[in-house]
Amino acid sequence: MTSSLGPILIKSPFILAPMAGCTDLPFRLLCREYGAGLCYSEMIDCQGLVVQQQECLELLPTNTTEQPVIMQLYGSDPGTMGEAAAILSEHPIAGIDINMGCPMEKIIQQGAGAALMKNPRLAEKIIAAVCKNSTKPVTVKIRSGWNQHTITAPEIAKIAEGAGAQAIAIHARTWSDGFTGPIDHGVIQQIMKSVSIPVIANGDITSHEQGVALLKKIGCAGVMVGRAALGAPWIFSETVNQHPSMAYRIKALLRHLELAETHLTPEPSLSKIRNHAWKYFRGTTTGPAIRKQIDATTSYTELRTFIHTLAERVPQK
Ligand SMILES: Cc1cc2nc3c(=O)[nH]c(=O)nc-3n(C[C@H](O)[C@H](O)[C@H](O)COP(=O)(O)O)c2cc1C
Repeated sequence: MTSSLGPILIKSPFILAPMAGCTDLPFRLLCREYGAGLCYSEMIDCQGLVVQQQECLELLPTNTTEQPVIMQLYGSDPGTMGEAAAILSEHPIAGIDINMGCPMEKIIQQGAGAALMKNPRLAEKIIAAVCKNSTKPVTVKIRSGWNQHTITAPEIAKIAEGAGAQAIAIHARTWSDGFTGPIDHGVIQQIMKSVSIPVIANGDITSHEQGVALLKKIGCAGVMVGRAALGAPWIFSETVNQHPSMAYRIKALLRHLELAETHLTPEPSLSKIRNHAWKYFRGTTTGPAIRKQIDATTSYTELRTFIHTLAERVPQK
């Protein structure tokens, strides 16, 4: 079922959330294979992109198979965000997102990420600068507000729409909530009332059915899945058993490794892949023991060999 997110056509309303250290090209491709309609990149430092810092350039690879992809920028200086948007929009991507939700201290200290939820004037300048300099549609990912006393999301969403944003993704928690506590579906509905651009709901969607239920309940344009997709890209699939067998988990992980080997040169980073790999066994009885063995591997080749050995040991079903 093709639907649209403003000008971006998506085949499913299930969207992979931006996650630093996780949503690189191989993982995005894997999520697309499982049915994600759209994937977001890891956040990219606008300043680093402008001065062509190696670690920022490494976040840019994309290809036609993974389209549509949205790449995310963070920063607090409208001029630099605009320059970075101009650079990013030269890339073959579907859109650019502005990070207004990151709670990390080093991001907040520079006035970026979730700090923008308490600075609507600066947020407006940044969104306007990015929209002006981008040839691609711009989305904004926000939180509910700074804390429970300052729920600014409906106001900021309106400002974003006025400044030219084409969609809003809302992690319905405040900065002070971090990543825990209840998700405020009421604030998502308030935003949907205050703007006419598409709204994507994010936060604690832990199963495909839950995503479908939320889409039906509040009628948002999309549901964005973060942590629950890690080690479980089948969350995007309508048809895959959401509690798959061990053999199925290993098969999915081996496909992840294959994509990582194809797209990350000279080879995938051990720490990043280890961090993905153990999650494929979350919630299984042998998961903790497998995690220990994964954590004990000292090279990518060793990790890969271990997973292949595991594949030979489990019943093929
Ligand atoms: C490891 C990790 C990295 C994240 N990195 C980003 C990021 O780069 N940009 C961003 O906007 N949000 C980031 N987030 C927040 C997620 O996009 C998402 O909003 C949040 O995890 C809530 O969704 P969930 O409950 O489905 O995980 C990150 C979250 C995690 C767990």
